[in-house]
Amino acid sequence: MDNKLLDGLNKQINKELYSAYLYFAMSTYFLETNMEGFAKVIKEQAKEEIEHAKKIYNYLIAKDEKIILYQIDAPDSNWINPIDAIKSALTHEKYVTKCIEELFKLSRDINDYSTEIFLQWFITEQVEEEDKFKTLLEKMENVQNCDCEVIHIDRNLKLDSEYVE
Ligand code: FEO
Repeated sequence: MDNKLLDGLNKQINKELYSAYLYFAMSTYFLETNMEGFAKVIKEQAKEEIEHAKKIYNYLIAKDEKIILYQIDAPDSNWINPIDAIKSALTHEKYVTKCIEELFKLSRDINDYSTEIFLQWFITEQVEEEDKFKTLLEKMENVQNCDCEVIHIDRNLKLDSEYVE
């Protein structure tokens, strides 16, 4: 595999694991503010990020490529309120989308067909990831002057069977 692409994929493993760290921190923040519904959804997101990292790891192993596990930074977790936390999650996902698109473009430019096809899954996944946080943010922004409504959203998230602990 092209060295630049391999380096990018190894760094993407790190970015996915950082994402898991970020969402574990965010889930903790929501638990500390007694918002168990948000905490549950965000913890589920953290688990998904570990799966994303594993997907890339397994791909590189299958291709007999060298795995490099870089140090994972501590996440920035100084959110001032629940909306601020969800906004930062959306900003983070937009950043991850950009990273994936750059890897996709590189694999296309150098005719690495298998990696291009492999990354298609991530391109589709990022649409879902951004949409998930955009939808949450829109709900919260609609009621941002009323804490009781945010608590109502939290209760609904807690009951939502889509998210299983
Ligand atoms: Fe794996 Fe949320 O990007």
